[in-house]
Amino acid sequence: MNVCKIFALHVLILLCLTLCCNHINAARIIGFFPTPSKSHTLIHAAIADSLARAGHNVTVIGISKNVYPNAKYKFIEIKLTEAAESHQNVLQNMVKKPKSFYFNLFNFVYSFANTANRTLSHPKMKDFLRRHGAGAFDLVLLGFAANDFAMGLGAHFGCPTIISFVVQPVSSINRLVGNPSESAYVPSWFSELKAPLTFWGRVLSFLVAFYEEWIVLPIVKINMLKIYNYNFPSDRYPPLDEVRKNVSLIFTNHHFSQGPIRPNVPNLIEIGGIQIKEKPDPLPTDIAKVLDESKEGVIYFSLGSNIKGSHLNEEKIKIMFNVISKLPYKVLWKWSPTELPGESKNIIFRDWLPQDDILAHPNVKLFITHGGMGSVVESQYHGVPMVGIPLFGDQPSNMVNVERSGYGLAVDYLTLSEESLNNAIQDVLNNPKYKEAVQTFSRLYRDRPMTPRETVVYWVDYVLRHKGAKHMQSPAVHMNRWQLLSLDVIGFLLAIVLTISVVIVKVCKLICCRGRKNKLPKVEKAKKN
Ligand SMILES: *[C@@H]1O[C@H](CO)[C@@H](O)[C@H](O)[C@H]1NC(C)=O
Ligand SMILES: *[C@@H]1O[C@H](CO)[C@@H](O)[C@H](O)[C@H]1NC(C)=O
Ligand SMILES: *[C@@H]1O[C@H](CO)[C@@H](O)[C@H](O)[C@H]1NC(C)=O
Repeated sequence: MNVCKIFALHVLILLCLTLCCNHINAARIIGFFPTPSKSHTLIHAAIADSLARAGHNVTVIGISKNVYPNAKYKFIEIKLTEAAESHQNVLQNMVKKPKSFYFNLFNFVYSFANTANRTLSHPKMKDFLRRHGAGAFDLVLLGFAANDFAMGLGAHFGCPTIISFVVQPVSSINRLVGNPSESAYVPSWFSELKAPLTFWGRVLSFLVAFYEEWIVLPIVKINMLKIYNYNFPSDRYPPLDEVRKNVSLIFTNHHFSQGPIRPNVPNLIEIGGIQIKEKPDPLPTDIAKVLDESKEGVIYFSLGSNIKGSHLNEEKIKIMFNVISKLPYKVLWKWSPTELPGESKNIIFRDWLPQDDILAHPNVKLFITHGGMGSVVESQYHGVPMVGIPLFGDQPSNMVNVERSGYGLAVDYLTLSEESLNNAIQDVLNNPKYKEAVQTFSRLYRDRPMTPRETVVYWVDYVLRHKGAKHMQSPAVHMNRWQLLSLDVIGFLLAIVLTISVVIVKVCKLICCRGRKNKLPKVEKAKKN
C-alpha cells in the first residue's frame, strides 16, 4: 500500500515536472500562409507541424482547406474561394499560352500579392488581429511569396518574424537578409541557366540579375507599399522598410546538394525536403495491392496538385493517353474531376493519390511529372527516375536540372507527340543509368547532420532563446544598393584619381609651356642666325 502511494507520488511529481517544463519552453507561434498554391502550403505547414509536435503552441491561418488534417497545430481557415479561382485562371492561361517565365512574372507576383492582401484585410483576419494584440504571440512564421507587407504582423505582435520560402533563395529573399547574389556563378533560379556559366552565360546571368534586382523588385515594391499602408496604417505601425529589415531567419526548402553551390548568410537555413515524410504512411489497401503485386514495376503519373485535366489541351491529353495505355506496366494516374481521357486495363485513375508514400514504394519504376519543385524533390529523395512534361513557372527550369544531372528526360508540352513522349519513357525505363544517377543523388540528399524537421525545431528555438537573434543579421541588410556594390567608394576613389590626374596634366602643361616659351626664342634666334 505504502509502496503504491510513494510510486503514485513519484509519478505525479514527474508529470508535474514535464508539464511545467513543457509550459516554460512552449512558445506561442502564429503561422500565416496566405497562398493560393497548395504545393506552397504543403511546405509551410510542414514547418508549423514540426514545431507543434515539438511542443509549441502553434496556430496556423491559411486560405485553403488544411493540407494536413492530422497536424498538431490549430488551423483557422479564411475562406477566399474567389482567390483560389483567379489563381487557377492565371495558371490556366500560363499552360495555354506558355511564355518565358519572365513574361509571366508580374502576373504571378500580383496574383500572390492580391490574395495575401485579401487575406489580411478579410473581416475574420481583422477580428483576429483585434482580439490578439501585442504580446499575444512569441513568433510569426510567414509563408513568403510576394507578400512582404505581411511582415507587419511581426510589428503587430511585437515579436520576431521567421520566413518560409519554397525553393532556393531568389532576389527578393536575398535582399531581405543581405544574402549575396553572385550572378557570375549563381544563375537566377527563374532562368534556365545552370552553373558553371560560359562567357555568354555570364552575360545573360548578369542581365537577368540586373532585371530582377533593379527593375522587377522596385516596381513590385510600389505595390507592396500600397498594400502595407492599407493594412498597417502609419499612425499605428512602423514603416514597411523598417519591418522588412526585422526578419530574424529564413528557411529555404532547398539543399546545397541540388546546386547551385553558393554562399549563404548565417540566418538563411536550408531545410530542403521538410515536406517529405521520414517514414511513409501505409498506402490505401487497393493501391498497396497494385504496387505489391506488380513485381515488374509500376509507373506513377501526376501533373501536380495545381493542374487539373481541364487546364490541358484535348489533343495533348489524347497523346498522353495513347502512349500510356500501350505500356506493358500498370500506371497510377492522378487525374482531377473532368471526364477521364479513356479507359485501359493498365491504367488506374484517381483524383488524388498519396504521392510521397507511392514514390517511397520500391516497385515504382518511373514518375511521369510536370516537374514542379515538390514533385522533383520527392522523386529525388526516393530515387525514382523521371520523365517530365513541364508546363509553366519553374517547371522547365527544374526539368533542365533533372536532365543535366541524368535523373530523367523532359519532353516539350507544346510540340508533344506520341513519338516524343514514348521515346522518352522507353529510354528512361530501359536504360539503367537514370535510376543509378538518381539513387546516388538520393543518398547525398539524405546525408545531413540533422533531419529537416530537427533543423527547423533547433533554429526556431534558437531565435526564441536569443530574442530574435539579431546578432546573426548581416550588416548588408541596412545598406543600399550602391553601397553594397561599393559604387560610392569607387566613385570617390575615381574622383581622387581624376583630380590628381587633372592636377598632374595641368602642372605638366605649365612646365611644358614655360619650357617652350624659353625654347621658342632660341629657335627663332637660331633661324635668324
Ligand atoms: C495557445 O496560444 C493561443 C494564442 O495566444 C492562446 O489563446 C491559447 O490559450 C494557447 N493555448 C495553450 C494550450 O496554451
Ligand atoms: C522587430 O523584432 C522585434 C523582436 O525581434 C520586435 O520586438 C519588434 O517589434 C520588431 N519591430 C518591427 C519594426 O517590426
Ligand atoms: C487591398 O485590399 C483592400 C481591401 O480588400 C482593397 O481596398 C485595396 O485596394 C487592396 N490594395 C491593393 C493594392 O490591391
